[in-house]
Amino acid sequence: MEEPVLEVKNLRVGFRSDFGERIVTDDVCFHINKGEMLGIVGESGCGKSVSCLAVMGLLTANGYVKQGQALFDGKDLLSIPEKELDRIRGKDLSMIFQDALASLNPAFTVGNQITEVLRKHLHMTKKEAEKRAVVLLHQVGIPDPVSASRRYPNELSGGMRQRVMIAMALSCSPKLLIADEPTTALDVTIQAQIMQLIQKIRDDLHMSMILITHDIGLMAQMADRVMVMYAGQFIEEADVFELFRNPLHPYTRALLAAAPGIDDAKDRKLASIRGTVPETYWDITGCRFCGRCPYAQEACREKQEMPELSAGHYVRCCRAGELAKKEQK
Ligand SMILES: Nc1ncnc2c1ncn2[C@@H]1O[C@H](COP(=O)(O)OP(=O)(O)O)[C@@H](O)[C@H]1O
Ligand code: SF4
Ligand SMILES: [Mg+2]
Repeated sequence: MEEPVLEVKNLRVGFRSDFGERIVTDDVCFHINKGEMLGIVGESGCGKSVSCLAVMGLLTANGYVKQGQALFDGKDLLSIPEKELDRIRGKDLSMIFQDALASLNPAFTVGNQITEVLRKHLHMTKKEAEKRAVVLLHQVGIPDPVSASRRYPNELSGGMRQRVMIAMALSCSPKLLIADEPTTALDVTIQAQIMQLIQKIRDDLHMSMILITHDIGLMAQMADRVMVMYAGQFIEEADVFELFRNPLHPYTRALLAAAPGIDDAKDRKLASIRGTVPETYWDITGCRFCGRCPYAQEACREKQEMPELSAGHYVRCCRAGELAKKEQK
């Protein structure tokens, strides 16, 4: 089998605070194959962003990696020196965020910022880089890219800024692009346009991508394989068709049932997921969905493993097999 582009093993991310240490991701493991679009989905606050930020070495100062490996190109990104990571980040490994305004530097024109990336990583001359920046802006659908390249981020609309950030992320043809809720801050029409752009980039460049979103409906359209996250853990993983046809974890079912326009979602009674993600989920040793799950039993209070129930379909719920069988009857 082909080597994955990125393989994350047993990742535990912690944050220090006045109240002590909080481990917000619990032994997170995932991989992404060449040319694949991996979707990571889950409610807000479940650990999607911090898992990827940790891999990129971009956690805030109070955050740290307690344990784990992130193998990329034969190197463990979590243990290489910062200088080496800096050479990889923005070149072979890029990330786009929800908020382009916060990610772009307000003091420089967008052309200038893309040019800098090209000069730093690809050692282009100023002239070459400026030309390439205009081509990139054109590729991401920015009208009149020459004049756009001379503008400052705050002079562009939200959708255009997002396109600029995508152009910057693509500038060095990364091996892996991580898109963290890339359209959440945009209005619906612009969201659809940016998603179309991401899909097109993927089709044209066969790039490996991780798409993070809280929108499970979007996964159905975009991802090849989906990993569902809940309270700092992955709780279900499957090929996109399998996941939507045969969701097995009660939380995934609840997500699907609550999503508008996904007709074959089972278990309508879960339609609105009652309760919220427990605030201090890191203290829960058993199933972290227990407090919200209509099927909870005593055995659910034990630590839950994530076995493979059918080819490529993994579920962290001791009752998943039994519930699926009941349904078939
Ligand atoms: N900078 C931070 N300092 C302290 N806690 C944080 C920080 N960033 C995230 N967290 C905590 O980590 C957990 C996961 O957050 P995050 O990965 O941002 O969630 P998601 O991206 O799934 O919405 C949450 O409990 C959040 O409060
Ligand atoms: S382990 Fe139990 S509580 Fe958790 S999702 Fe499964 S049935 Fe529900
Ligand atoms: Mg997030």
